[in-house]
Amino acid sequence: MLEKMSDFFENRLEGYDRHMRTDVDDEGQFYAFTASLLPMEKGTRVLDLGCGTGLELEDYFALNPDAKITGIDLCRPMLDALAKKFPEKEIRLVCASYFDEPIEQNFFDAAVSVESLHHFTKEQKIPLYKKLCDGLKQGGYFILTDYFADIQEREDYFQRELIRLKQEQGIADNEFYHYDTPLTVENETDALLRAGFARVEIMNRWDTTYTLRATKA
Ligand SMILES: C[S@@+](CC[C@H](N)C(=O)[O-])C[C@H]1O[C@@H](n2cnc3c(N)ncnc32)[C@H](O)[C@@H]1O
Repeated sequence: MLEKMSDFFENRLEGYDRHMRTDVDDEGQFYAFTASLLPMEKGTRVLDLGCGTGLELEDYFALNPDAKITGIDLCRPMLDALAKKFPEKEIRLVCASYFDEPIEQNFFDAAVSVESLHHFTKEQKIPLYKKLCDGLKQGGYFILTDYFADIQEREDYFQRELIRLKQEQGIADNEFYHYDTPLTVENETDALLRAGFARVEIMNRWDTTYTLRATKA
């Protein structure tokens, strides 16, 4: 049975950090790598899409303790766990869908998202990435660490399966339910370029998890 996105993560909150740091590709090494690509200036502003319990932020604060973070996530208990970890830090947490939440224009030095965006289609992502690109300062960039489909056929299969499961369970098409529908790296790159980013680079890879950097001109 598909679970609502927020319920899915709430139901797995216990043990979530350990699972992500030990069971996912290369024991979560991608968190430290992702953090190392974010800006190191004091007071730099970073937006985190789908920040969850803040695993990438643990690594980032270790490198840049004075970063100012805005985190968006639709699961309140995940955000509560994050807030408990960093009582002293300058963090603004927004409990909402990043598809709906407005992003202030030319405001952020960088943005990051780890293991959150593989639940959505290219069509859903292009307007989100456009809003995100507009929210970055000139020369700002977006670090996307996520898992990807290795071939087009697998991407297509997961998209078809999600539609089938939603129909089977009578779920309205516009509701977010948890089901992984990773794009290929090629399609993700195309979505970022179509949204207005000037270039997209592959920065690293661990099995099916990649880190991409999309830079605003
Ligand atoms: C696998 S967790 C990743 C959390 C964190 N970035 C990490 O790597 O540990 C995915 C997160 O994305 C959030 N999420 C999924 N869809 C979202 C949406 N449309 N808007 C905001 N958050 C979303 C979920 O609530 C969950 O906390």
